[in-house]
Amino acid sequence: MVNVAILGFGTVGSGVAEVLTKNGGLIDQRVDDLVRLKYILDVREFPGSPFKDCFVKDFSIIENDPEVDIVVETIGGATIALDFTTRALKAGKSVVTSNKELVATHGYDLLQLARENKVSYLFEASVGGGIPILRPLTSCLAANELTQITGILNGTTNYILTRMIKAGLTFDQALKEAQDNGYAEKDPTAGVDGHDACRKICILAALAFGQHVYPQQVPTEGIRNVTLEDVAYADSKGYKLKLLGRCMREPEGKICAFVAPHLVSDHNPLAGVEDVFNAIAVTGNAIGDVMFYGRGAGKLPTASAVVADVIDIAKDRKKDRHNAWGPGAPDLVVSPDILSSRWYVRASATVDQARLACGEILPLARAGAPADETAFLTDLMTQPQIRDCLKGMAVSSLFRVLD
Ligand code: NDP
Ligand code: HSE
Repeated sequence: MVNVAILGFGTVGSGVAEVLTKNGGLIDQRVDDLVRLKYILDVREFPGSPFKDCFVKDFSIIENDPEVDIVVETIGGATIALDFTTRALKAGKSVVTSNKELVATHGYDLLQLARENKVSYLFEASVGGGIPILRPLTSCLAANELTQITGILNGTTNYILTRMIKAGLTFDQALKEAQDNGYAEKDPTAGVDGHDACRKICILAALAFGQHVYPQQVPTEGIRNVTLEDVAYADSKGYKLKLLGRCMREPEGKICAFVAPHLVSDHNPLAGVEDVFNAIAVTGNAIGDVMFYGRGAGKLPTASAVVADVIDIAKDRKKDRHNAWGPGAPDLVVSPDILSSRWYVRASATVDQARLACGEILPLARAGAPADETAFLTDLMTQPQIRDCLKGMAVSSLFRVLD
């Protein structure tokens, strides 16, 4: 018998309980043992829940029960979740989580702790929701030197952008829908301001390049500055506005990582990723380009990834499955300033002024544009170069282009 305890019976935790129950027979067969939900810890009451016999309010009951093999942490955040995860690992229990904030902030230490206690710390659901990405990165692509990763990593913001573009919803209306669907956290600012995508690119970079990348080392811009005007200009030349997390290996072992809105060309498969879907494009020196696609948030898709980790551990509790990475360093991450790209600019200027400032440009059009507004795409240049070109111009929007 393999006993599981869930911490946090919210969107993901309740999905985990549902999948463990609904697919119980199949899971037992695949594990070749009985996988049972023994406890659920939450601060709230759930009267009438089919799991009412499992609820506890005191973590030490789980911590001190030698029958508990696997703890699923779906509380979120990096405070109480850190305490419970640390105590569970020290008590010799493997931990599975969807909590990217905790992994991005404390992943190195928690993986070390898991190793010391001969247990596992797995977090497939922390990036890309239901998409299999972390295990493929470290197993199926293990023969490669990975060189870069580019992803639509936040389901909520992608959903908001898609609903604004396709249904003409306001930002607030689209956000409300995302919350009603269980995609956004209670406080959605981490998604909207890019911090959620930042945490995910940190995890991907650590697994791909072998060293901990901390969120505070990664320049991060969210979607608050994206307007429907920008969306219309982008569309006029076949571009979609997407929030991308990007990381790449640089010379001398450095890593460049950042999160920012981009104009993505319709020729790039990332442009077609809509609604809550995420996609992660990975480049390796043997495979070339490979892309992972699926539902990036939501109760059951995320539970699918969590329960897969539970099954992996339950199948072989003694297996050494440490996907550990090395410690971070203050000078590990370099600024994206070094990276040349084309740029999208919207400014109060004439086309002639824009050309004079930036050289070769591609002007964009939209219906109802004011006479003193110009939007255009530049040739390749770095961020310091474009900022230098635009000195003295009243710029409303400045985004990188991904062709
Ligand atoms: P929810 O807020 O829906 O669930 C968290 C649950 O934990 C709530 O029921 C909350 O109660 C409870 N809780 C809070 N504090 C404690 C505590 N001290 N002890 C026990 N229970 C507690 O969050 P989600 O399920 O959406 O997310 C969980 C984690 O998974 C987060 O890290 C999130 O970022 C991540 N994630 C979420 C996805 C999604 O689609 N929602 C997808 C992938 C990852 P209360 O409501 O009263 O605070
Ligand atoms: N709020 C997150 C998102 C949940 O929308 O992508 C999945 O990590």
